[in-house]
Amino acid sequence: MGVYREVRPGVFSVGVIDWDRRLFDELIPLPDGTSYNAYVIRGGDKTALIDAADPPFAEELLDNIEALGLDRLDYVVANHAEQDHSGAIPKVLERYSDALVVCTPRCRELLESHLKIPAEKFATVEDGATLSLGGKTLEFFYTPWVHWPETMVTYLQEDKILFSCDFFGSHFATSDLFADQRIIYEPAKRYYAEIMMPFRAIIRKNLEIVDSLDLELIVPSHGPIFDDPSFIIDAYKDWSFDDVKNEVVIPFVSMHGSTRLMVDHLTDALIARGIGVKRFDIAASDVGKIAEALVDAATLVLGACTVLAGPHPNAATVAILANALRPKTRFASIVGSYGWGGKTVKAIQGMIPLLKVELIDPVLAKGLPTEEDYQALDRLADEILKRHRELGIA
Ligand code: FEO
Repeated sequence: MGVYREVRPGVFSVGVIDWDRRLFDELIPLPDGTSYNAYVIRGGDKTALIDAADPPFAEELLDNIEALGLDRLDYVVANHAEQDHSGAIPKVLERYSDALVVCTPRCRELLESHLKIPAEKFATVEDGATLSLGGKTLEFFYTPWVHWPETMVTYLQEDKILFSCDFFGSHFATSDLFADQRIIYEPAKRYYAEIMMPFRAIIRKNLEIVDSLDLELIVPSHGPIFDDPSFIIDAYKDWSFDDVKNEVVIPFVSMHGSTRLMVDHLTDALIARGIGVKRFDIAASDVGKIAEALVDAATLVLGACTVLAGPHPNAATVAILANALRPKTRFASIVGSYGWGGKTVKAIQGMIPLLKVELIDPVLAKGLPTEEDYQALDRLADEILKRHRELGIA
């Protein structure tokens, strides 16, 4: 049985909710599931579908569209080529054989290579182009790198609705059409951390485009709709602009307890100096939570014990992840213990070339930390406080 909901007159939500998905890209945990939102816009003359769904949900999407009683679909707007939104397009084109896929030229290339959609099925659009459906006018804005190179957003002029696809999305399965701000802030921040943060600079440029529009709704393709657009726009500005918080993120791994003792001491030393701490035992933590913590903390301290002459693989994973996500973190350090030697610090430094951080002197202990090691951790906390004060955040 198909189901749809009317968002505004002539604008219908026909997407699907993936309640049970727990992993995305075989990498990102989805504690709250996700959704692949799609929308039908019925104009006086033409009808368009905005985005589609992940391939396993193609039939459910089609059922939802058919529940509307559509006998014709003229356009499928593909704001983004990634398969969770585009993968069902071939099935939609089988059912609605007259429909043309509307997208950027770059998106067309990607859809041709990923989905083998034939060339004659496309109608590419320039930045700023419009498409009239009859009393409903779509305007397309190129917004590259949110989070692939081909991404665009679609603005429905008459209703002041922005269909933003991944931009402003959240992996959050809910039957609520509209966002509860108290609930959605954290999933949206986590989504930003995992998907958008590496493109912070270009996101700020894309926010200028969004800011220039008269908006009543921001309608992403994951998670609920924002009926107060300024809520999510302001959050994105907060996350993507350069300001950092008086916080230290400490992901750590400890095999026999020595590194944990050091992290315990450093945690207390930082708290005593008025610095916020977000700390994660890596083996027992959700990497999405670590990514989210990195969005606005001024400092990252990686707690890494040594195994086989290098950092424990769990610490290496977080270092590589932080390097890939490129948070605005300003300072970094390393603490940890070793048994008889190794090159943990050098190895971790080599894993974070993209992090624009000042490395504060690491503290490495041989075996159980000594009184001198604890004093070195106190000095590390002092150095972090000094730098946070220089930034005016402590
Ligand atoms: Fe939700 Fe980039 O796909």
